[in-house]
Amino acid sequence: MIERPEVARAVAVLREGGLVAFPTETVYGLGCDAESPAALRRLFAVKGRPADHPVIVHVADAGDVEPFVAEVPPIARLLGEAFWPGPLTMVLQRSERLPDGVTGGRDTVGLRVPETPIARELLRAFGGAVAAPSANRFGKVSPTTAADVRADLGADVDLVLDGGPCRVGVESTIVDCTGTAAVILRLGGVPRAAIEDVLGAPVELRTAGETAAPGTLPGHYAPSARVMLVDRRAAAARAAGLLASGARVGLLTLAPAPPDLPGGLHLLDQPSDVDEFARVLYTRLRDADRAGLDVLLVVPPSSDGIGATILDRLTRAAAGSPDR
Ligand code: TXA
Ligand code: MG
Repeated sequence: MIERPEVARAVAVLREGGLVAFPTETVYGLGCDAESPAALRRLFAVKGRPADHPVIVHVADAGDVEPFVAEVPPIARLLGEAFWPGPLTMVLQRSERLPDGVTGGRDTVGLRVPETPIARELLRAFGGAVAAPSANRFGKVSPTTAADVRADLGADVDLVLDGGPCRVGVESTIVDCTGTAAVILRLGGVPRAAIEDVLGAPVELRTAGETAAPGTLPGHYAPSARVMLVDRRAAAARAAGLLASGARVGLLTLAPAPPDLPGGLHLLDQPSDVDEFARVLYTRLRDADRAGLDVLLVVPPSSDGIGATILDRLTRAAAGSPDR
């Protein structure tokens, strides 16, 4: 296979212990050699992330997880066959191969096989495991374009691979596969129902509290504008009330927008279906800040499928908004 020149450069950066931002179908990742403690220290410093927050380890193919885990239990095998490459992260018992820096000192590791071609090319050419959190500073909205990464990380990242906007737009679903039954630790790109279909059983959701997937804090999904969830029918009146108090107010909703919206309301570009809503969600949160909004009203889509992930992020954004 002929490698793209930028992929060859990215591999060189990783081998030297540098940081490479790369696209995945969920969000852009900030990658480093997962087996280099020095590279991991730099990664955590640039992210501004506490050392006890584990990062996800990315490999090119499902078979490549073996050296990094103690075992691949049957539920993990099923999920890997169904969803890898794709927006799924599995938490498995780790082997001795990875340094503690990756796992925050835990005896488990989160693993993922991303689907975006340039990410797989990078992982194949590098030939090892790439540790990568989302390519944003700690507490900021995840990037879904190369420009988002550059705006947030600037010169602190050695190289940014540009694969265009991310197809899914929200992070991977994290499933803990270390017990007898799978448990979802973070909603994401793979809907819960799809996981239950593959496993043939209901799957518990344990996304609240900080013990399960440390780092999924409310403020992580909040822009500077205060996010408020609103019912479609109440949106116009709510907007009018806020505008009357002098606030700069925006609205994010599926198309078509509700009728009778007040003048002066900043209507953000509307996604036309739930998949597009997920894909553009983080861009719209950034748009709200670029427009200098004080308040962003959001009419969430129905909570089926990936709608549940959107609602999860919006609820966290609302809870983590300024002044709360
Ligand atoms: O879509 C994604 O998953 C993106 C792309 C770049 O792969 N990555 C991402 O990474 O969202 P990050 O670091 O922003 O979020 C990783 C989450 C954190 O909440 C962390 O606590 C959890 O994964 N995690 C990682 N390893 C874990 C483990 N061993 N046990 C429990 N949670 C883990
Ligand atoms: Mg993140």
